[in-house]
Amino acid sequence: MSAIIQIAPSILTIDFGRMEEQLAAAEAAGADLWHLDVMDGHFVPPITFGDNLVATVRRLSSLPIEAHMMVANPADHFSELAEAGADRLIFHFEAAKDIDDAHALITAARALDREVGVAISPQTPVVAIRPLIESIDEVVVMLIEPGWGGQQLNEELLEKVAAVRVLDGGRLRVEVDGGVKAHNASRCIDAGADTLVAGSAVFNPDQTPAEALAELRAAVAFD
Ligand code: DX5
Ligand code: ZN
Repeated sequence: MSAIIQIAPSILTIDFGRMEEQLAAAEAAGADLWHLDVMDGHFVPPITFGDNLVATVRRLSSLPIEAHMMVANPADHFSELAEAGADRLIFHFEAAKDIDDAHALITAARALDREVGVAISPQTPVVAIRPLIESIDEVVVMLIEPGWGGQQLNEELLEKVAAVRVLDGGRLRVEVDGGVKAHNASRCIDAGADTLVAGSAVFNPDQTPAEALAELRAAVAFD
């Protein structure tokens, strides 16, 4: 792909006690946007955070924010997340009741003047979201079961990235989420991804965010 590759750090494994400093370090090192994982304890077992943390990140940084909503009822949370500063609202296809409901969710997010992303969990085939492709800005292909940072990705799921590219004519942002590291980033891009979520690859106890982002950048050879 010749598209500009974006790196979207997820803060799931950040040291929240040092969040301000860690965000600033990642931003200075070239993070492109923040990927904020909102989990409600229903769609996935863990509970993470909601609009208040999105608002805090908004206050601390001017980078775009996407809210990856792992919640059972996305429509209930669109306006609070948009108001808190999310530029892109990503809901899970599996959280929609049916395709009409998925279209209604897209319409609701658009009414808030936000970009719209649809995430698909490993069990959902790309063909399921074909009717939505024309109406959205981003597809998020999960390379892990959603719910936890720090998992190993399933490389077989990269075939789904290529399948999205067959459908979208190169129009969409295609993001991979889960287990993306320096050693597998180029395979994600070769499959057609242009946006890499990087959680524990950026925020981990062994590296500074600057070291981690330099390693990721080198791995995808852009800049
Ligand atoms: C998991 C989240 C991911 C995760 C990424 O459900 O959607 O964004 O935090 O973290 P890593 O990169 O550590 O897999
Ligand atoms: Zn995520």
